[in-house]
Amino acid sequence: MQYAENILETIGNTPLVKLNKLTKDLPCLVLAKYETFNPGNSVKDRMAVKMIEDAEADGRLKPGGTIIEGTSGNTGMGLALVAIVKGYKCIFVMSDKQSKEKMDILRAVGAEVIVCPTDVAPTDPRSYYSVAKRLSEETPNSWYVNQYDNLSNTKAHYESTGPEIWKQTGGKITHFVVGVGTGGTVSGVGKYLKEQNPDIKVWGIDTYGSVFKKYHETGIFDENEIYPYVTEGIGEDILPKNVDFDIIDGFEKVTDKDAAVYTQLLAKEEGMFLGNSAGAAIKGLLQLKEHFTKDDVVVVLFHDHGSRYVGKMFNNEWMKEMGYID
Ligand SMILES: Cc1ncc(COP(=O)(O)O)c(C=O)c1O
Repeated sequence: MQYAENILETIGNTPLVKLNKLTKDLPCLVLAKYETFNPGNSVKDRMAVKMIEDAEADGRLKPGGTIIEGTSGNTGMGLALVAIVKGYKCIFVMSDKQSKEKMDILRAVGAEVIVCPTDVAPTDPRSYYSVAKRLSEETPNSWYVNQYDNLSNTKAHYESTGPEIWKQTGGKITHFVVGVGTGGTVSGVGKYLKEQNPDIKVWGIDTYGSVFKKYHETGIFDENEIYPYVTEGIGEDILPKNVDFDIIDGFEKVTDKDAAVYTQLLAKEEGMFLGNSAGAAIKGLLQLKEHFTKDDVVVVLFHDHGSRYVGKMFNNEWMKEMGYID
């Protein structure tokens, strides 16, 4: 018999899938690292397990403890799955811009969900960063995960996602393109790949309204770059410790409209029913066209699943209201 001991053993070893239609004008091979095959339907399952195991190992998380985190949804899902298998409680704090589906999904796997306003500074006591931190101070036997600054996040991708991509491409990968939020994926995968071949180029996909691109190019943290945006999961108004700016060769920004339209196109043209940051990632990759040549092997990582966006990017009424389609 062949079976996993529990759901956590099914995390990782996701497929690499060729894009055929959206990329037809590019000279190179484009392959998608298809992370929705993880049991929580996102790449975040990988770092959720790693962050919890590291916290157990050094005593930050104790038996019967409560896991507290600010999450845009996917990390919460990963943490909730691990918590169920290992017997922890979860409290997740989200900002109100996140899809309702993400909140419902977290409640479905037994987590308590607290929703905070998006449109306040990270230091504001109402922000989801501040509320998560405060709750962790007030709740007995709790552990605040802090995926932004918790370096187990990057390590998970250095130990699993990066080696998988290297192996699946037979070491032929030349470029890695990925949306950047906490930075764990880009930094962990990028570090591993560059250790195998320093010529591999790593591109981060950013949003308008986020500080990453300007900070990377100038070293300036410019508060004027910060404003609310629609794209979910990528871009930040802080500099998380997990973003290793030295690993990243460049950032490319994608508009909210393009990210939403390309999320639909991935589904309709490629049969890839994916989340909003996948739309941003593929559009950013297309914008980088001039950087690719015939023999290149470009890997783009798609973080999460389309089912989390049926009320938004897959709802044409919403798309019309936003002015994204006629
Ligand atoms: C949908 C989605 N895309 C992209 C990202 C960014 O990944 P990372 O946090 O590893 O930079 C996240 C992280 O929250 C996400 O949920």
